[in-house]
Amino acid sequence: MLDLHGKRAVVFGVASEESIAWAVAKTLHAAGATISLGYQQRFKSRILQLQRQGEIPIEFCERCDVASPQEMESFFAGLPGPVDTLVHSIAYAPPETFAKSVSEISELEFITALTTSAYSLLPLSRLAIPRMARGGSIMTMSYLGGQRVVANYKLMGIAKAALEAVVRELAAEVGPAEVRVNAISAGPVKTLAASQIPGFSDMLRVYEAVTPMRRCITQTDVANLAAFLASDLSRNITAQTLFVDAGYSALAMAELPLTAQAQRPELAA
Ligand SMILES: NC(=O)c1ccc[n+]([C@@H]2O[C@H](COP(=O)([O-])OP(=O)(O)OC[C@H]3O[C@@H](n4cnc5c(N)ncnc54)[C@H](O)[C@@H]3O)[C@@H](O)[C@H]2O)c1
Repeated sequence: MLDLHGKRAVVFGVASEESIAWAVAKTLHAAGATISLGYQQRFKSRILQLQRQGEIPIEFCERCDVASPQEMESFFAGLPGPVDTLVHSIAYAPPETFAKSVSEISELEFITALTTSAYSLLPLSRLAIPRMARGGSIMTMSYLGGQRVVANYKLMGIAKAALEAVVRELAAEVGPAEVRVNAISAGPVKTLAASQIPGFSDMLRVYEAVTPMRRCITQTDVANLAAFLASDLSRNITAQTLFVDAGYSALAMAELPLTAQAQRPELAA
């Protein structure tokens, strides 16, 4: 059975109640884990509000911007006890890059997006792994745009491709120490980060219309997989990118649009 009692999880990437990381923290806690949070200073007031609401107890909560090696080090120095699960749910690309042609992306924009969204998994893991005395599970959040071209995803797609490669390389290295590393590739969910992507509501409409399950996913769907990955039930799953996307990633030309429109007039709207 899925049981996380006695496990300690460190979750990075809560910015609001809608954050995937918040759903993960709540689900891991519901399964028995003790939760610590690392947050970005600009979201401090929202984090304090979530703490005041007291939906789940948070053992340790401190700022931790992945652009700052000092903040990452002082976060882990202050963290009480060992770590069993590290959740990396962090991404950033300069908002203007979602509307820019990929060939126009500057070196600085590229470095910013890849450092924050892909590289950051490495220093966080480097700091967490020495505390993973009983083995451990590291997970990060990816998106289909890291494997295929998705409209308007652009630089973030390149960052997700790098992130998924980081997952494989890191998993190969730390596996002998009983540490597992995986990526969860989620379908689109309405969050602060997602609202940066032009046409995001259209994306939700398309998903709902064409996914095999004919629905969008929720933060809780992602959190349920995160709980499985944090548990010993997944002890031989590592180096993978696992999809929680109602089946969308399996599609190529699953329907002929004109035929589908004739059968379901709501698609023509
Ligand atoms: N929402 C979606 O549709 C979707 C789909 C697939 C994957 N994802 C991924 O899920 C993850 C979480 O995103 P979300 O949708 O929950 O949005 P969100 O805006 O709630 O979370 C993004 C988080 O990244 C953090 N972050 C950005 N730069 C940082 C930095 N320098 N240091 C520390 N933290 C930093 C922010 O503080 C925020 O908490 C991201 O990796 C995102 O790409 C989201």
